[in-house]
Amino acid sequence: MNISFADSRPTGDFALVIPVAGKDRSGLASLTTVGAALDSQRFEGEASSASEQFVEEGGKVRRLLVIGTGAGKPSLQGAEKLGGAVVSRLQTSGETKAVIDLSGLGYDAGLAARVGLAAALRNWRYDLYRTRLKDKQKPTLTDIVIVGGGDGAAKLFDQRWKPVIDGVALTRELVTEPANIIYPETFVARVQKSLAGSGVEVEVLDRAAMEKLGMGALLGVAQGSVREARLLILKWNGDGDKPPVAFVGKGVTFDTGGISIKPAAGMEAMTGDISGAGAVVGAMKALAGRKAKANVVGICGLVENMPGGNAQRPGDVVTTMSGQTVEVINTDAEGRLVLADAITYVQQTFTPHAVIDLATLTGAILVALGHEYAGLYANDDKLAANLQKAAEESGDQLWRMPLAEPFDRLIDSPIADMKNVGPREGGSITAAQFIKRFVEDGTKWAHIDMAGKAWADKPSATYEKGATGFGVRLLDQYVADVWEK
Ligand code: BES
Ligand code: MN
Ligand code: ZN
Repeated sequence: MNISFADSRPTGDFALVIPVAGKDRSGLASLTTVGAALDSQRFEGEASSASEQFVEEGGKVRRLLVIGTGAGKPSLQGAEKLGGAVVSRLQTSGETKAVIDLSGLGYDAGLAARVGLAAALRNWRYDLYRTRLKDKQKPTLTDIVIVGGGDGAAKLFDQRWKPVIDGVALTRELVTEPANIIYPETFVARVQKSLAGSGVEVEVLDRAAMEKLGMGALLGVAQGSVREARLLILKWNGDGDKPPVAFVGKGVTFDTGGISIKPAAGMEAMTGDISGAGAVVGAMKALAGRKAKANVVGICGLVENMPGGNAQRPGDVVTTMSGQTVEVINTDAEGRLVLADAITYVQQTFTPHAVIDLATLTGAILVALGHEYAGLYANDDKLAANLQKAAEESGDQLWRMPLAEPFDRLIDSPIADMKNVGPREGGSITAAQFIKRFVEDGTKWAHIDMAGKAWADKPSATYEKGATGFGVRLLDQYVADVWEK
């Protein structure tokens, strides 16, 4: 998708898009007959409403798409809804070019760039395995021109948002690819290819290297699979020798549950259990793409959780890299085992300023927050507040959850230092408490349980059904707000 910005409408063929804020139809002033048509369609300009008609212009017929943005001044969310709506309406419409005319409607450069951002994000799709698509089902829209957004929109879009669009696309691709294609080794290869020339330094630990480091928890999860585990380490150095901020992602390339096997119905969704790692990779791509003035380390714990003759059993005790031991009560609570060693590794290797981990960790967070928010846990209020601010700004919504000693007690084990599950109640919280046991004194840490956000069953302004790319915009915004000020 080619997105550009202009001061006035071009000539030639295109679909014309005009936003209308509630009853204020000023953007339609030059189109005199349109108002009556809108009335007859009972169009009132509410957010997410739309009217499509054809108008005559200079002896030619032009498609006119009027999009309601709700009454009042344009907002960031409104701008994103507008950009997304244009693509959802026109992507396979037969139109190849759309012109969105914002002239005189109060959109500044920031808002106009957001229209473009949302359009590009909404346009992403992955048709690799759809070999029999009918022509009518194929995308036609290739160009969007955004008119009247003021000076600086093009620069903002190219420098700030294009890299984010690329990062989100990479994340969605990794999450969408099935588990027979993307497993630890191929995840690494795909990322290396995508980040080649970006300036991100890539390091990979294989099983032998992790054995040496004593990563018994991560390797215990991986041992039932014929696919070998990997630890992927990405380094972006954009700000001298300051200590980095670290992002750690759960990358379970498929989660069958292991010996504590999951029910068959819906298990295919566990190809998305890679989404925390996907978000980390996408964020690194975005940050490198826009040459962020920050030092960032991204760690992906990559394993496949399978049953098998060599799989770990419920009741096994593993020794983590931290030296702490874990009784594995349930092999399906594998994400926290992977994160435990990845988090120890990142603290011992990089002494980061803060550690933020992202994981599709528990079904319990879905029970608590549904699909609207990811759960945020933190041992530091400032870090939590910074992430919540970035969540607001980016649209990757977070809701803060509690950490407290009584929850911690629930994972004490009679035979080892801890067990990997607590009772059913508070399942996302005890998972967070488990991870917290691997956070060293003095390390600022946040944990994001994003099990309800990685995959969507219904489209939004910025994504179609499927992989959302959750987390990339959040982390990118957090770095921009906190580290690049
Ligand atoms: N990957 C799952 C969590 C998950 C559930 C992600 C639904 C996305 C959608 C995780 O590894 C898991 O299996 N968690 C268990 C933990 C339980 C055994 C304590 C769960 O939530 O049921
Ligand atoms: Mn699991
Ligand atoms: Zn899992």
